[in-house]
Amino acid sequence: MGMAAADDLWWKDAVLYCLDVETFADSDGDGCGDFGGLTDRIDYLAGIGVTCLWLMPFYPTPGQDDGYDVIDFYGVDPRLGTLGDFVAFVRTAAGRGLRIIVDLVVNHTSSQHPWFQQARSDPASPFRDYYVWRDEAPESPTDLVFPDTETSNWAYDGVAGQHYLHRFYAHQPDLNISNPAVREEIAKIMGFWLQLGVSGFRVDAVPYLLEVLPEGKPRGNAHDVLVALRAFLSRRRGDAILLGEVNLEPQEVRRFFGEHGDELDMQFSFLTNQALHLSLARCDDAPLRQMLQRLPEVPAGCQWANFVRNHDELTLDKLQPQERDDVFAAFGPDPGMQLFGRGLRRRLPPMVAGDRRRIELAYSLAFSLPGTPVLLYGEEIGMAENLNIPGRMSVRTPMQWTAEPGGGFSTADPASLRRPLPTGEYGPEAVNVAAQQPDTNSLLNWMERLIRRRKETPELGRGNLRLLDSGAPGVLAHRSDYDGGTVLALHNFTPHERDATLRLDDGCTALVDLLSDRRHEASGDVTFRLEGYGYRWYRVIRSAQQPASHG
Ligand code: NOJ
Repeated sequence: MGMAAADDLWWKDAVLYCLDVETFADSDGDGCGDFGGLTDRIDYLAGIGVTCLWLMPFYPTPGQDDGYDVIDFYGVDPRLGTLGDFVAFVRTAAGRGLRIIVDLVVNHTSSQHPWFQQARSDPASPFRDYYVWRDEAPESPTDLVFPDTETSNWAYDGVAGQHYLHRFYAHQPDLNISNPAVREEIAKIMGFWLQLGVSGFRVDAVPYLLEVLPEGKPRGNAHDVLVALRAFLSRRRGDAILLGEVNLEPQEVRRFFGEHGDELDMQFSFLTNQALHLSLARCDDAPLRQMLQRLPEVPAGCQWANFVRNHDELTLDKLQPQERDDVFAAFGPDPGMQLFGRGLRRRLPPMVAGDRRRIELAYSLAFSLPGTPVLLYGEEIGMAENLNIPGRMSVRTPMQWTAEPGGGFSTADPASLRRPLPTGEYGPEAVNVAAQQPDTNSLLNWMERLIRRRKETPELGRGNLRLLDSGAPGVLAHRSDYDGGTVLALHNFTPHERDATLRLDDGCTALVDLLSDRRHEASGDVTFRLEGYGYRWYRVIRSAQQPASHG
């Protein structure tokens, strides 16, 4: 059975679930999801066993970047409800043991934010210096996040008579983090939502937020800003976390945890994700194995967040061109399935032609590699994308609750939904919660079992990873040791049966198969037969005298 971890680093044993209120459940039939609908679904979420919800932006917004363009950091978009509805939701969630983290989007504001409106119209306004202005558009930085719509990171504002920095769309002017007043605003925003009961923040675009431009933004050490924000967070609420979006090379990500582990508590592991997809595409464990070896060590209180899919394009930007091409060829050969030349706009099930074995393999990895797993809503039932929706929004379709035409998401005319549901093989008539709940073999029930097992296996979230040599080509073998316990995991990336052999030393007398609950007597060299795309998790049982050797 599982062992409860003793300390209070709750995020190390958490299972996160990302959702957008707008696309989750519509309680009033206007075609837009809302806090009322989400609150009605809390029992579903508690039932599948996730422990923390990450809400994508729900703040007032003109909606030019699906809410990542905020005009009021202290409010709820009226289409989604009111602050009162938000508080009722947080309270109901807490009653079911669910924590909430919210998106903190403070690299930029919407250009319609009152700060920017005042900044552009009055050079003497205190808000002018909330943004980054130049008389001439500098040539750098040159790398563009959205190369389909933007040609520069600087835009000329006719009212201001100057150029302003925008790392994302031109309608998202970057805030000037070197201005102490901006830093105070960020702390105040965090303080507000913490007071309303959230357990932390998913911090958008962290490297850009801290970016030091050639011309000196910010003044001083950018990382001091993050140290200060994290310290503020801890003072206000000791168990709250910062989960940061940092998609950089292996040698660059470590510093975002902070020299003393005092910056981000967690970072999404984009590196693991990209290597995972390359391994899946090539039916070879080598890319993932090599990436796991290259990942920097994580400070004691910190953690990776592992995911199969997130709400953006599935970026492959850290792969070599040939590697990226291999993933494209395997999982999205049609240019319409690709985005920005660097990513895919599909969800996993159609990428693997619905092959349940490969879907399970991917989630088994996300749940057993060192880190905390994060699900995107709908992954638990195997939802697909709708490629008719442009760009990154293809994967942000409404949650599919029932087989009805509106997927049980809304009673509004399905044709009127801003994000149309997919049709056919992956449409709501084929893929939905209601049909999967009573079916023991459904992906939903498999995922529930996986989540439960993961929560009973703290070695996975907390342990030290050791890669093992199983002698079987294409099979990744790893072990995780924590507090005297050891878990072994095997993942066969190939479609072929494989025999993997592991040496079970340090007193192992038996293995418990954690996904089937069978127990095998085992010691010495043990061979495991894995079917194509097969996977196993085992807990090592030792004779009482011999503790685990930590490697
Ligand atoms: C990253 C978010 O994940 C993405 O959806 C958004 O467009 C950009 N940051 C800008 O906020």
